[in-house]
Amino acid sequence: MARTFTHQEIREKYERMARWYDIGEGIPEVLGLRRLRRALLAGASGDVLEVAVGTGKNLPFYPADCRITAVDLSPSMIETARRRAKRLGRPVDFHVQPAEALTFPDGRFDTVVSSMSLCTFPDPVQALREMARVCRKGGRILLLEHGRSDREWLGRWQDRRADRHAETLGCHWNRRPVELIEKAGLTPVRIRRFFLGIFHMIEIVV
Ligand SMILES: C[S@@+](CC[C@H](N)C(=O)[O-])C[C@H]1O[C@@H](n2cnc3c(N)ncnc32)[C@H](O)[C@@H]1O
Repeated sequence: MARTFTHQEIREKYERMARWYDIGEGIPEVLGLRRLRRALLAGASGDVLEVAVGTGKNLPFYPADCRITAVDLSPSMIETARRRAKRLGRPVDFHVQPAEALTFPDGRFDTVVSSMSLCTFPDPVQALREMARVCRKGGRILLLEHGRSDREWLGRWQDRRADRHAETLGCHWNRRPVELIEKAGLTPVRIRRFFLGIFHMIEIVV
């Protein structure tokens, strides 16, 4: 089992990766991730918090009337997201802060969004609890995550390479998003899986 990284270690990894992140992720985006992002964010409305916004890859897909606040641990990832928001002409209120200890009051947001992030959070269950805390009752948490495939041959292959992958990218690619959500005391109302069961699109009503 790969060790868990500290916030400082994760921040350092993404500070180093920020310049190359969009190039490295370009192929999966074109092969279908972009389509999944669009489908996920069609469900966002009102005051939205995006947790672990990264370089802002979701920003083009929010409905025009969403008011967006976004957080991430890495100032350099946020800097790229800020430039993207500017290019899109989208006002976004950015903050550097950890997902596990958000500074926003209870029930502040109508929608909370996070993508490709449960794999990197040092404490994903606590991060999910925080997402639920800052989401109003009846609001939605929308997640697009990758995790361990439900095809056993592929899941085992991910398991064998998980430690090495985590050391390089800080990403635990064999985590199980649905189990993490249940541990956080939340119940998904919809789960869809794509790409050999690796990608999960999950909707939770708080
Ligand atoms: C794999 S990237 C995903 C970025 C973006 N959400 C996307 O869909 O492309 C993971 C991001 O999570 C951020 N991150 C990791 N741990 C975090 C934490 N505990 N709190 C806030 N951000 C975190 C990293 O800095 C990085 O920007």
